[in-house]
Amino acid sequence: MGNAQLQAKIRDLAKEMDAVILAHSYQVPEIQDVADFVGDSLDLAMKAYRTKAQCILFCGVDFMAETAAALNPGKTVLIPDPNSRCPMAGMLPRQAVVEAKKKHPSAATVLYVNTLAEAKAEADILCTSANAVRVVQSLPNKRILFGPDENLAYYVAKRVPDKEIIPIPEHGYCVVHKNLIQKWQLDLLKTEHPKAVLLAHPECNPDIQDSAGFVLSTNGMAEKARELPAKEFIVATEEGLAYRLRKENPGKKFYVIETAVCVQMKKHSLEKAYNALKSKSPVVTVPKGIAEKVRTVTERMLNLTI
Ligand code: 13P
Ligand code: SF4
Repeated sequence: MGNAQLQAKIRDLAKEMDAVILAHSYQVPEIQDVADFVGDSLDLAMKAYRTKAQCILFCGVDFMAETAAALNPGKTVLIPDPNSRCPMAGMLPRQAVVEAKKKHPSAATVLYVNTLAEAKAEADILCTSANAVRVVQSLPNKRILFGPDENLAYYVAKRVPDKEIIPIPEHGYCVVHKNLIQKWQLDLLKTEHPKAVLLAHPECNPDIQDSAGFVLSTNGMAEKARELPAKEFIVATEEGLAYRLRKENPGKKFYVIETAVCVQMKKHSLEKAYNALKSKSPVVTVPKGIAEKVRTVTERMLNLTI
């Protein structure tokens, strides 16, 4: 069956089941095209929070689908491939958060949504790359335990200099943004396209953040690309965003590092999306006690955004 046929079947099934399809900006083009909404982590969490649909098909990595499940205890959350797991989330076990809190009792704990559900349950509030600065600024504490991404911690510390940001673990990272996107590659693109504006994700290394015109979440990049008069952009993030940017801005050019691929995000496919709806599985679940805590700290974050 071709993509168009499968997409039509998915749309029909979703309608029949009262399902909303949410897809992250790094999904393969054919998934982005079949989704009701394509967005960044914050936007998708908000869409999951507000949806009236009975079922959510979440095309993103595990922690995103788990957030949707925790926010919707009475609904069914499906994921096309349950093995789509963000390795950064696994870098901060719950016990490490507990120990850091013991060591720094006066600190508030802010965890990036890219965290395991049981670790999130230990946070005071969550954040995404889109609202990390606002979340940290909203807290009265001078000292902030922040994890698991060291580069996002750098981004926040630079913008909130009156607070002490303590990264937990010391060196958590996204394998794609830290290892697969290097400044020399962006410099090369800049030499080839001198007029292009550099947009970088805050999971990128500090040298890239410091040389970027703008450091933004994936939705932030999409908005910036839309509003700036510039016609060319170098985009320092996972390559999947380029499809969305090109679709939304047909008159503009976007250069990405084609090898910056998140294999976890790319585990979903149209076939798996169709099968998930058809069989109503795999269902994403979060144990009840943990889900309640995750819902509380996620709602705290969403309430700051509303
Ligand atoms: P955004 O929230 O900016 O979409 O980022 C999520 C992510 O996983 C980045 O690697
Ligand atoms: Fe996790 Fe990085 Fe993939 Fe985002 S791009 S899901 S942070 S591994």
